Amino acid sequence: IRETEPVHYDEQTHLWNLYRYEDVVYALSHPAIFSSDTNSIVPQQPEINFMSKGDITQMDPPRHRQFRSLISQAFTPRVVEQMAPRITALTNQLLDAVTVRSEMDIIRDIAAPLPIIVIAELLGVPSEDRERFKRWSNTLIASASSIDPTDEKMIASMIPTMREMHEYLQNYVHDRRQQPREDLISRLTTAQIEGQMLDDDEIVGFASLLLLAGNITTTILIGNALLCLTDHPEAIATLRADMSLLPSAIEEVLRFRSPFTLTARVTASDITLHGVTIPARQLVNVWLLSANHDERQFPDPEHFDIRREPNRHQAFGHGIHFCIGAPLARLEGKIVLQALLERFPTLKRVPNIELEPHESSFVTGVRSLPV
Ligand code: HEM
Repeated sequence: IRETEPVHYDEQTHLWNLYRYEDVVYALSHPAIFSSDTNSIVPQQPEINFMSKGDITQMDPPRHRQFRSLISQAFTPRVVEQMAPRITALTNQLLDAVTVRSEMDIIRDIAAPLPIIVIAELLGVPSEDRERFKRWSNTLIASASSIDPTDEKMIASMIPTMREMHEYLQNYVHDRRQQPREDLISRLTTAQIEGQMLDDDEIVGFASLLLLAGNITTTILIGNALLCLTDHPEAIATLRADMSLLPSAIEEVLRFRSPFTLTARVTASDITLHGVTIPARQLVNVWLLSANHDERQFPDPEHFDIRREPNRHQAFGHGIHFCIGAPLARLEGKIVLQALLERFPTLKRVPNIELEPHESSFVTGVRSLPV
């Protein structure tokens, strides 16, 4: 389809799709044409309005720029690097708990708990509540099985979980307004955008986004890294022989099995690409995974090559919405992979097990991965 119909209209879903690397980059680089405010065409659900108020992924400039400058300080590479000792300690704790057995589940034992604990500590909510956070993410991911964000049935199935999240986080926002601590929620309660404080819904909406975006995607990245490496024994041997290839191996996992399959935009005006005009106010799926396998950009794209250079993949998006958590996700991926390779010199997949993918079209990953 990248070759024959790169700008594709799906008659059934009434959605447009962009599949080529150059078009994906173009859409993400032109927010005035490809708006992120998908809420503008999704039926409004007053119950979950709090989500959209603090959801930076759906903001356009100038609001996006203001909000992003406020929160990006918590995620600079320098701030994230300071989290390395804590992430290493947590990784060791989680792995210590499983090394007594000869078999472990990468997802259950390390990839799922680690990012949740890290995000919980960053926000300042108790990491002991992580089963609850996991349930929320899993419910929302399972509900998001439809590719159509205007699907009212899908939205309705998400409301109870969103309400529960809202109530939970709002209590912490109230508490931190009274008694600030050294955490992100406290900082957001005093932060200002052009003299204006953030209201409760904005803080709760942003915290919910982090709890969701910051954990399931990183879980999937770690799982996908193990999938890619165990599928390619020659790559794992190369990596063991030269661990300095770890960062480029993670970039190749992000390209080859991109955790986030696609992101959505709404056309603010008519736009013509490859002779096809997408009218204004249409929902467009921007396929990151397809861009990352585009043979026009990546020679031999179906080859998993941990030395690939250059590797300008789109797994974290591009332009003004480029993933704020990218340095953190990369760091967690690096620490976990290093620990696993060092601890388990003969790490292999348990054979003859059918792997179960997540049902959602938005993510590419498996629910469990026994090794
Ligand atoms: C944005 C992917 C981890 C927080 C994005 C976008 C992508 C993405 C593709 C852009 C969406 C768009 O343009 O519509 C990923 C992947 C991750 C990951 C693949 C893991 C491997 C994280 C983590 C955090 C995070 C760990 C937070 C701790 C965010 C936020 C945005 C974002 C706040 C919105 C930025 C904006 O709109 O300006 N992510 N993400 N992500 N991500 Fe991530």
